[in-house]
Amino acid sequence: MFDPQEFIRNSLKGIREQVGNSEVISACSGGVDSTVTTFLVHKAVGNKLIAVFIDDGLRREGEPEFVVRTLKNLGVRNRFVDAKKEFFEVFKGRTDAEEKRKAFREKFYRTLGRIAKEEQIRIIAQGTIKADVIETVKGIKTQHNVLEQIGINPETYGYQIIEPLKELFKPDVRKVARELGLPKEISERMPFPGPALSLRVLGIVTPERVAIVRKATEIVEEETKELGTFQNFAVLHNDKATGIKDGKRVYGNIITVRIVDSEDAVTAIAKQVPYNILMRITKRITTQIPSVVRCLYDITNKPPSTIEFE
Ligand code: XMP
Repeated sequence: MFDPQEFIRNSLKGIREQVGNSEVISACSGGVDSTVTTFLVHKAVGNKLIAVFIDDGLRREGEPEFVVRTLKNLGVRNRFVDAKKEFFEVFKGRTDAEEKRKAFREKFYRTLGRIAKEEQIRIIAQGTIKADVIETVKGIKTQHNVLEQIGINPETYGYQIIEPLKELFKPDVRKVARELGLPKEISERMPFPGPALSLRVLGIVTPERVAIVRKATEIVEEETKELGTFQNFAVLHNDKATGIKDGKRVYGNIITVRIVDSEDAVTAIAKQVPYNILMRITKRITTQIPSVVRCLYDITNKPPSTIEFE
């Protein structure tokens, strides 16, 4: 049986030993894994930690403010980095899903490396969990341990990585979050991919297209709060369809709504959402986002689909 109290005791001790008198930097996206990591390190070493929120322009509505507020409320020293322009720059001309993921990853680590250098910090804390390690080894996802591939060899540059959660699965991370007294909005948070809304804008990623999916996501999340499902989101397609707005023919955007139940994201079931909820979502999306003329609901399980479209 996993004992969160014991885990916290041991990891605080481990982190203090690893850090010594140095300073640590931690990239906090506001997700449960990175926030628990950040707070554990903060508990262990206090102001020797600086938590960084990188605003890549791809987060959900209100997310940058939420993360900064959460860090402040927790008393964690933090730095906000506005990197929106640079992130959109790397997506230019890219439509392939894997290329977009890779571009995001490189930009992310380069930005984090740059900040660490500016702050003269040589220890980076990461919220890697067991599932990430397993998926990386199997070649499913490779977003972790990528520093070396992009020229930030942790050893050569004297960087040290600490990953206090790397032996834990998500349900245990949530137990640790509760035990640490983190707010419910953190401990019970829906999974959200690292590359954020860039995975949910099919085709080219621009600020305008991200704004469309951001608004649709907000609507889906508001209307499905009570469902208790594993993941609820919206996806913007890279093709268009015909519709009618104000009595005129419009060739407009298509949004797909995806709502799934899952234990561990390895398999997932498309939720049988009550029809009135789907109709309300459609009505709001097509009226509140003028360019959208069509709203679809995805009824495909995983497998054969994946949860995300990219
Ligand atoms: P798929 O789409 O593979 O997603 O069924 C399984 C779970 O992983 C999340 N996901 C990602 N998370 N970086 C992440 O940090 C990624 O590149 C990525 N791709 C998918 C997805 O949201 C779901 O919870």
